Amino acid sequence: RTTAVILAGGTGQRVGLSIPKQLLKIAGKAVIEHTLTTFEKADSIDDVIVLMAPGYVPDIEKIVAKAGFTKVTKVIEGGSTRNETTERAIAALGEGLAEGEDRNVLFHDAVRPLLSQRVIDDCVAALERYQAVDVAIPSADTIIVTRTHGEDGEFITEIPDRSRLRRGQTPQAFKLSTIRRAYEVAAGDPNFQATDDCSVVLKYLPDVPIHVVAGDEYNMKVTQPVDVFIADKLFQLASTAAPEQVSEEAYRELLTGKTMVVFGG
Ligand code: CTP
Repeated sequence: RTTAVILAGGTGQRVGLSIPKQLLKIAGKAVIEHTLTTFEKADSIDDVIVLMAPGYVPDIEKIVAKAGFTKVTKVIEGGSTRNETTERAIAALGEGLAEGEDRNVLFHDAVRPLLSQRVIDDCVAALERYQAVDVAIPSADTIIVTRTHGEDGEFITEIPDRSRLRRGQTPQAFKLSTIRRAYEVAAGDPNFQATDDCSVVLKYLPDVPIHVVAGDEYNMKVTQPVDVFIADKLFQLASTAAPEQVSEEAYRELLTGKTMVVFGG
């Protein structure tokens, strides 16, 4: 059994609007509705739970009812950090589990609405062999490591070999028992600090290999205001074909400005 956990507990401070960015309309639908549609359609996903920013659970219930999503079984409030939101999801999933039973869980950022079916299927397939799976793409930019020296600002301390660097996306997929164990060990660390879930497994269950599945460039995270614009453009391409099969013609039309951009749907 495979459950998708949609992490939507954030409020989108960097985008900086009055509503959380997962509720913004892009290409006619709320960002999170696009995300939920992708999981609803995925044959490898059995059910979906959503962890939403406090105060906005009714907004999701409305979206789910209106779209008629049948796989969404639970909408609950997220926590004050992304990791706390994950922990709440683990607790909620544990409630429905018999002694000794396990299942697959895919944690996905609600604000990555352009996820492809291929990536979902690759994650689920990888869980047949591995207990932990991440999704990543190569980095086109050079990544530098810096240190801040007071008022003088930042200085480079290291430039890692780019060929080995990847940019982590989501989903991050696990056997439920594995991610639960990782968080149980982490709970004993007074200095616990992380942003994603693979780093919790890497740090607290170092013997568990974390397999990496190839993500794709479309699977961007809506983080900064400019990303709202980029995501809208990408949806125009995706509406003509699956993201990995965008026709050259559609791409050229978009670049030459023949296609209109309509914000807010
Ligand atoms: N997230 C969550 N619970 C939190 C914080 C974040 O479930 N307490 C989710 C967000 O809703 C988002 C994903 O984690 O889908 C990625 O986080 P990020 O882009 O940082 O979202 P926000 O925290 O909303 O953005 P910001 O940091 O700009 O406030």
